[in-house]
Amino acid sequence: MKPVLLGIGAALVAAAVLVAGGCGSLATPEAPGSGSPAPGGGGIVKVGQQVKDGAQLYVDLACTRCHAPDGVGGIPNQFNVGGDSTIPPLNNAYRDKSEQFTNAQQITQVVMDGSILSKKPGVINMPSWTGVINDAQASAIAAYVLAGFPHTGATYDPDPAKPADIYAAYACIDCHGQVGANASPPPAPNPKTADKAVPGLRNPDDNVPASELRSVIMDGSIPDPGTTGVVFMPAWGQILSVDQVNAILPYIQDGPAGAKLPAPAAATPLPLAGSTAAASPSASSSP
Ligand code: HEC
Ligand code: HEC
Repeated sequence: MKPVLLGIGAALVAAAVLVAGGCGSLATPEAPGSGSPAPGGGGIVKVGQQVKDGAQLYVDLACTRCHAPDGVGGIPNQFNVGGDSTIPPLNNAYRDKSEQFTNAQQITQVVMDGSILSKKPGVINMPSWTGVINDAQASAIAAYVLAGFPHTGATYDPDPAKPADIYAAYACIDCHGQVGANASPPPAPNPKTADKAVPGLRNPDDNVPASELRSVIMDGSIPDPGTTGVVFMPAWGQILSVDQVNAILPYIQDGPAGAKLPAPAAATPLPLAGSTAAASPSASSSP
């Protein structure tokens, strides 16, 4: 599908969320009478470089898939029985007055620590991005959120279909690295775990059956509630469509079959990837 500008008014946002929800999980963004947060009905706004980078990171890191374009929230999280049945909005225009974000640290802390509600299979939990992104990237995302999700010209594809596009659009590549041996980028570090890194995918020496890979993609692999700063596999079962899951499985298959697939080109680095403000759990969680 043709990429669309990130958030062009409330109507398109609603339509995009319907598509992005996939497999019949229809979402209605929670819009408490505030209308579109976009000034001028969707024109591109001139913003500083940090906010611009934040807008691009919001797309590249799949924030947009779970929190919706423009941060309007409302994507179903239906297995989270006893908790919120939708993923929260991040845009202050869609949050209760008492819960509005007023400083960057409120945002960067959740982004780096993650927030685990439940280990129940299929529940969508907020990933921790410690080790996946650096502090400069977390700050840029926070600046974009605090700026009210201005339309900077960042585009996103509401329903990517090609395996390589899915792999990029849902941030698989940012955590797992590029598929295959000697991948560029390599899998992200995950210092608090035994392996010290996120596992790579399409491993020639492993042979995890497709059924097992599918169940990890659908249900995730979630640490105990309260764990912070550990990169974990989110549950994508309510976010990806059935077609997308079917498309991605052959692309990440292990063993000889995977080894025969052509190696993809090195990926474009994320904005601010070269920044010297490397991610460190202590730096990001200190007030
Ligand atoms: C796999 C889905 C998923 C992705 C991807 C995701 N989030 Fe979340 N996020 C959640 C869920 C679910 C919650 C609610 C967690 C809770 O209530 O404890 C949440 C909560 C948050 C919160 C706290 C909201 C609040 O109400 O206090 C922030 C801030 C946040 N996410 C930012 C981001 C950013 C920025 C990104 C991209 C870097 C991102 N999230 C990517 C699912 C996701
Ligand atoms: C926020 C980081 C993150 C993102 C984004 C992410 N993963 Fe994962 N994934 C992980 C981690 C960490 C594990 C290891 C879980 C474990 O061992 O408990 C994992 C495990 C897996 C596994 C099981 C691997 C094995 O060999 O058993 C598969 C398959 C997988 N992910 C596919 C995907 C796909 C496909 C996407 C994109 C739709 C994706 N992941 C996005 C972090 C991530």
